Amino acid sequence: IKNIGVLTSGGDSPGMNAAIRAVVRASIYHNLKVTGILRGYEGLIQADFIPMDGQSVANIIQRGGTILKTARCDAFRTKEGRELAHKNLVESDIDALVVIGGDGTFTGADLFSSEFDFPIIGLPGTIDNDLAGTDFTIGYDTAINTVVNAVDKIRDTAESHDRLFIVEVMGRDSGLIALRSGIGVGAEAIMIPEAKMGVDDLICRLETGRKDKASKIIIVAEGDEAGGAYVVGEALKEKFPKSDIRISVLGHIQRGGKPSCMDRVLASRFGVAAVEGLLAGKTDVMVGQINREIVFTPFSQSIKHIDAKAISPTWLRLVEILSL
Ligand code: F6P
Repeated sequence: IKNIGVLTSGGDSPGMNAAIRAVVRASIYHNLKVTGILRGYEGLIQADFIPMDGQSVANIIQRGGTILKTARCDAFRTKEGRELAHKNLVESDIDALVVIGGDGTFTGADLFSSEFDFPIIGLPGTIDNDLAGTDFTIGYDTAINTVVNAVDKIRDTAESHDRLFIVEVMGRDSGLIALRSGIGVGAEAIMIPEAKMGVDDLICRLETGRKDKASKIIIVAEGDEAGGAYVVGEALKEKFPKSDIRISVLGHIQRGGKPSCMDRVLASRFGVAAVEGLLAGKTDVMVGQINREIVFTPFSQSIKHIDAKAISPTWLRLVEILSL
């Protein structure tokens, strides 16, 4: 391997810049060239490449977003798109790839790997933490801290007005952001797809729960089957017409901001492991960390529709004990 291409793809996550920096610095350390690919697979198909050096990643470890930009790319889902991407890589003398992203990124990488003999390693970069093969993904820690900071503020006003707030957090198909942040803010209830609580169950819990505390925070994961904060809010307003209920959808603030130290360190470790993994002959795998050790998991096993990261009953029990 002489020239590693690096890209970020899918939804951005805080810490992606730290990961890019680590890939670039590790490549330089091992006397390799490194090429930045702009806007993920889109840039691969359009041959939008930039040479990178130590200076190009200076002072980015603390920055949210991704200096390489990112996109969700439909063309890479087609065989023609992937063929063009491969041709561009070969013509530019790029002979290995590091892709930083989530489920969609690794689905594409796995397909690419099955079609071409081309070394490719993934770094888990998504706030959702919904990949198997790592305890944490890059960006998750920052996102849950963003949620905690926001909900702490909502709690202040909720308490002043004796209001019930339904706060919706991100996580397309996963309740992991809701679960941890919900525990962190002391939520009165947490609705996540993995627990299938349902609005009726929530109403029952509110009816039987503490009566001495008028302010309540309900955290709802965006992917919960109940249908999101507005649907839950309407049902509660109907059932409890005397309650003062407000909705807050936190949205994309969860994807931005300075990465936490946890995310910076995780991303730095993963970036170096990816470059050294490629040099050791690894391909078609995602770098992860399980019980503090670096592990490599085949893309096909890391993506959630194959091996969903289930939430253990012990977490659900914790919520049960601590809420309401
Ligand atoms: O996968 C990360 C994520 O932030 C999900 O939690 C969310 O559903 C989705 O991306 C939003 O994507 P977009 O920014 O493209 O609307």
